[in-house]
Amino acid sequence: MPQVTLVEITREDVRRWCRLAVAPEQERFVASVAVSISEAHFAPEAWFRGIAADGEPAGFVMLSVKPDVPEYYLWRFLIDRRFQRSGVGRAALEQVIAHVRALGATEFLTSYVPGEGTPGPFYEKLGFAPTGVVDDGEIVLRLALA
Ligand SMILES: CC(C)(COP(=O)(O)OP(=O)(O)OC[C@H]1O[C@@H](n2cnc3c(N)ncnc32)[C@H](O)[C@@H]1OP(=O)(O)O)[C@@H](O)C(=O)NCCC(=O)NCCS
Repeated sequence: MPQVTLVEITREDVRRWCRLAVAPEQERFVASVAVSISEAHFAPEAWFRGIAADGEPAGFVMLSVKPDVPEYYLWRFLIDRRFQRSGVGRAALEQVIAHVRALGATEFLTSYVPGEGTPGPFYEKLGFAPTGVVDDGEIVLRLALA
């Protein structure tokens, strides 16, 4: 099990992070790192980090953080195909959950595209539960933090 850390992405290494890739059949579940960082440029609520495994770029996470609403949303989450199914996703998401909890959130939301190979079961293993809401075809999940 590699050591998993959340790291800041810099001007110097952003291109390395943009090379992260999911399997072709997973591309419908998540936008690329490059698109996500581009969107973050226009979204003051965006917070993102690289997910490193033993210091190597292995994944990417982006949140939407709106303390005034309040709303804390897991907006993008991906593990590069070479690092999947080795516990990196779980270790990273546990650290993200701790971060959101430290911000004072009482719940953490996300959503996923249903279908073959969907990340839904992964989120449910981490404690997220369906809210019953379907937003633009995506199943909305909630993790209670209180
Ligand atoms: C979903 C994703 C983040 C999981 O990351 P990962 O590093 O492979 O997950 P882990 O190895 O930490 O798995 C943790 C647990 O979830 C399970 N799991 C992971 N992906 C799963 C899937 N697609 N379906 C069912 N179970 C899954 C693992 O078997 C493991 O179970 P265990 O703890 O009982 O052994 C990764 O597959 C991914 O990036 N997928 C493509 C992009 C995507 O769908 N992102 C989410 C957008 S909403």
